[in-house]
Amino acid sequence: MTRGWQITLDESGPHVALRDLDDTALRPDPDDRDAVADVEVAVTCSGLNYKDALAFAGNPGVVRRSPLVPGIDVVGVVAASSSPRWAVGDRVLLNGAGAGETRHGGLAERALLDGGTLVATPAVFTDLQAAGIGTAGFTAMLAVLALQQHGVIRGDVLVTGASGGLGSFAIALLARAGFTVTAATGRPENDSRLRELGATSVIDRAELDRPSRALESQRWAGVVDAVGGQPLATALAQVQPFGAAVACGNAASPALATTVMPFILRGVALLGVNSSLTGLHLRELAWKRLARDLDPAIVDAIAQPIDLDEAADRAVDVLAGRVPGRLAVRVAAGSAA
Ligand SMILES: NC(=O)c1ccc[n+]([C@@H]2O[C@H](COP(=O)([O-])OP(=O)(O)OC[C@H]3O[C@@H](n4cnc5c(N)ncnc54)[C@H](OP(=O)(O)O)[C@@H]3O)[C@@H](O)[C@H]2O)c1
Repeated sequence: MTRGWQITLDESGPHVALRDLDDTALRPDPDDRDAVADVEVAVTCSGLNYKDALAFAGNPGVVRRSPLVPGIDVVGVVAASSSPRWAVGDRVLLNGAGAGETRHGGLAERALLDGGTLVATPAVFTDLQAAGIGTAGFTAMLAVLALQQHGVIRGDVLVTGASGGLGSFAIALLARAGFTVTAATGRPENDSRLRELGATSVIDRAELDRPSRALESQRWAGVVDAVGGQPLATALAQVQPFGAAVACGNAASPALATTVMPFILRGVALLGVNSSLTGLHLRELAWKRLARDLDPAIVDAIAQPIDLDEAADRAVDVLAGRVPGRLAVRVAAGSAA
């Protein structure tokens, strides 16, 4: 038996329970013809992302099969494998690729996964640190890579949703890459924490969350945006010629009311990131860069550990915006490694 969270959606609402799951409860949906489960992972750690918190609340946009083991991040050790890529004892991780949405995820002691989506856990990180980085840090790394691949390699970069998981990692990674980072936050009490991560200035999110003109003074070589909505529209109007904004999230709103002016008069680019659908090559590149550029001490400063049985209660805090940084979940007892 495997201890894990299970979310079931039916007419009477979402049912969320931490229970003993048998093999059937961990297997892919028989109707999911693309599902491959050639690697059994003894899960040590997972995370509690905003998306996971939505799953605990029974959001059908995230819980796309029922019953579902939630957890979009999986970190652990290969226990059995028929994949040519992995052998018993390998340390592996997974961010997204359907885990915790269309397929069972990491908030159970065992996971049956597609070996073609797994990445080797970098030796510099413990399992708890790899889970602390999780989808938030992986996505922040993808955003930095997107800026750099677009040719934005120096200058001032704005990070919105700065106190959150994605924003916190984006600040640390951008500062390490040599950018001058401005953090936009609705929680001014986090000022010193954001500066410790690498921000050189901190602005109130209200400066962006107001009606904007089509073009405003040119402030940013790049933007890493976790919030969407009006703050992104305002930031776009402030991007310097041939700079870029990376849209990563919608914590404020999925809407984007802008004009074409930043694009046609300043050559600004709006780039997108979807961590879940990212292919293996880019996953491996991003984790290599995280291992090179992210001091494990910074991960410890951003991610707080919690135990598996706390996940449902702490999901409420995540949705209420009460968690600075992010939460890493110890799935197997004693998985502080
Ligand atoms: N594209 C992808 O692949 C991908 C991957 C991971 C996450 N995401 C998305 O990225 C976003 C951030 O994820 P996360 O894990 O960092 O979440 P998080 O830890 O909950 O952080 C979100 C942050 O957004 C800010 N915020 C919240 N409500 C806001 C509002 N109404 N207006 C403006 N800002 C607001 C807050 O920052 P302050 O308190 O500092 O203002 C909050 O800490 C989410 O929308 C998530 O779904 C996307």
